Amino acid sequence: MKAKSIIILILGLIGCSCSKFTGSKEPLYIGDEISSDTTHNVLVAYFSRSGNTEQVATAIAEHTGATLYRIEREVPYPEDFEDCATEAKSELNDSIFPALKDTIADFDKYDVIFVGGPVWWHTAPMPVLSFLKKSGYDFNGKIVVPFCSYANMFPHETLLELVDSTPNSLHPTGFISEKGDTTGIAQWLDDINLKLK
Ligand SMILES: Cc1cc2nc3c(=O)[nH]c(=O)nc-3n(C[C@H](O)[C@H](O)[C@H](O)COP(=O)(O)O)c2cc1C
Repeated sequence: MKAKSIIILILGLIGCSCSKFTGSKEPLYIGDEISSDTTHNVLVAYFSRSGNTEQVATAIAEHTGATLYRIEREVPYPEDFEDCATEAKSELNDSIFPALKDTIADFDKYDVIFVGGPVWWHTAPMPVLSFLKKSGYDFNGKIVVPFCSYANMFPHETLLELVDSTPNSLHPTGFISEKGDTTGIAQWLDDINLKLK
């Protein structure tokens, strides 16, 4: 078994032992109701290392006519999986919010912001939390829609982290993708009244 698979397996086993949550794909929170009568300016902000979340973000943008924005760490993570995993873990353990590569000048014009990333060490990668909590963007009163991509564990906790990081926003039910699978996105956007195009 390759080293990468072993790490994912260990993450899964740790997850089994300390979470009461199951592998169900249903989000654990009931999303807020959104009015479909309003016209929205939509942004899809995502972090992605290996392309899975990017696939989901692109599909959301295609269905909603949104602007796509890639969240990037100022100093990229190492290419090597294990080095990246180690660095991401210590960043998480030490609550380090890494600087991001750039900023969105016209952020205020967006009133709907989809925010997503992969599950990393049971939660959202720190650059996504930098984007939500440390970049000076005002999410108050905006609609923040969480989504994530995962391999085998902790997608719910990751969505909840994104919700908790924007406490004064409205949160429709989020979207969970297994390894970048985009099946069901159109239906989900209909369900939350945000299939805008
Ligand atoms: C550092 C690191 C930690 C990860 N931790 C988890 C985890 O806790 N649970 C999980 O299901 N997948 C975990 N994964 C796998 C990714 O969430 C999954 O492969 C995802 O689809 C990758 O998305 P991306 O291609 O957008 O980067 C981890 C991957 C990396 C690199």
